[in-house]
Amino acid sequence: MAFILGIESSCDETAAAVVEDGRRVASSVVSSQTDVHGKYGGVVPELASREHLRAIVPVVREAMEQASVTWDNLAAVAVTAGPGLVGSLLVGITYAKAIASVRRLPLIGVNHIEGHIHAVLMEARGQVEFPALALVASGGHTHLFSVTGSLEYGLLGKTRDDAAGEAYDKVAKLLGFGYPGGPVLDQLAPFGDASALPLPLARMKGNALDFSFSGLKTAMLRWVESQDMQAEINARRDFLRAHPRPTLDEWLALTPVPARNAIAAFQRVVIEELLRRVEAVIADQDFRCVVISGGVACNRGLRSAAGRLPVPAFFPTPGLSTDNAAMIAAAAFPKLARGELSDLTLRAKANLTLA
Ligand code: KG4
Ligand code: ZN
Repeated sequence: MAFILGIESSCDETAAAVVEDGRRVASSVVSSQTDVHGKYGGVVPELASREHLRAIVPVVREAMEQASVTWDNLAAVAVTAGPGLVGSLLVGITYAKAIASVRRLPLIGVNHIEGHIHAVLMEARGQVEFPALALVASGGHTHLFSVTGSLEYGLLGKTRDDAAGEAYDKVAKLLGFGYPGGPVLDQLAPFGDASALPLPLARMKGNALDFSFSGLKTAMLRWVESQDMQAEINARRDFLRAHPRPTLDEWLALTPVPARNAIAAFQRVVIEELLRRVEAVIADQDFRCVVISGGVACNRGLRSAAGRLPVPAFFPTPGLSTDNAAMIAAAAFPKLARGELSDLTLRAKANLTLA
């Protein structure tokens, strides 16, 4: 029985979790900063570091209490080493080092993207067959990897500009829906007619498995400029200032048909961009299943569209799709077994790569 304490602070969530043997989530605590960053329409790095400093001690304490474990029960401390915001990563890494050194525990640095993949491997354990194709789509990343049974990763494609979640966040900001944009646009998309607005799919030169979302974002901007809708956008922004968490009905009341159609069309193109690359790889290479993770994996449209894939697609439960520390502890378990440990020289790496 090996309990690993995981710590995650790479972006705007301070998270700690205790996971047993890489598979049973004994606790998973996430303190989100969306209320802090919401009014700026995106994450402000300096504010994020400050909020992590505030949250890290109580969040770790809560994770330990909820799991009913003591420091003596832990087999290791795992922490996200990158990629992410350096100032944010440093808070988690410094705290993990302090625990590891005082308690004489092994320290394990984990790649955040590998963590996202492990959110699925942990939950769908026994069902995921290898080689698997992994799509990680979040606010910071949009990557396609091959994954072997011995957990070796091969990079097949990645975004050349915005990440898929970043595209959601920027389009939501443009339309006056606040941050984060994915959840609200996903909720509104079924209320529009996606065919009402023709939006372009990206044409890639070079690696056709790379992604690009900047053309789509610009097309949305041009569409907004072509409409007389500034008053409508301002009404949503004003409403959001007075009511930080509008309900779906409130958003619908503030969103006329043309905007609903544009949201539906935007969501359809994002899903197409993601799934047609997955389909292209599967047609060409022998993958037994697809593992889809990262914040965008919460997307209901994507989850239902993935049913068209010719191999099984596995998603994490929504709470483990967005940033969390259970995925970090789960990813650390095989490293502990293999003796792949870090030491107190572990550094935050903004651009840490997985493959
Ligand atoms: O994995 P995550 O929590 O953080 C990063 O590693 O970036 O992902 C957050 C991103 C945000 O961009 C958010 O808008 C997006 O995931 N997201 C969604 C949905 N829920 C969260 N995007 C589309 N549909 C959703 N339902
Ligand atoms: Zn993430």
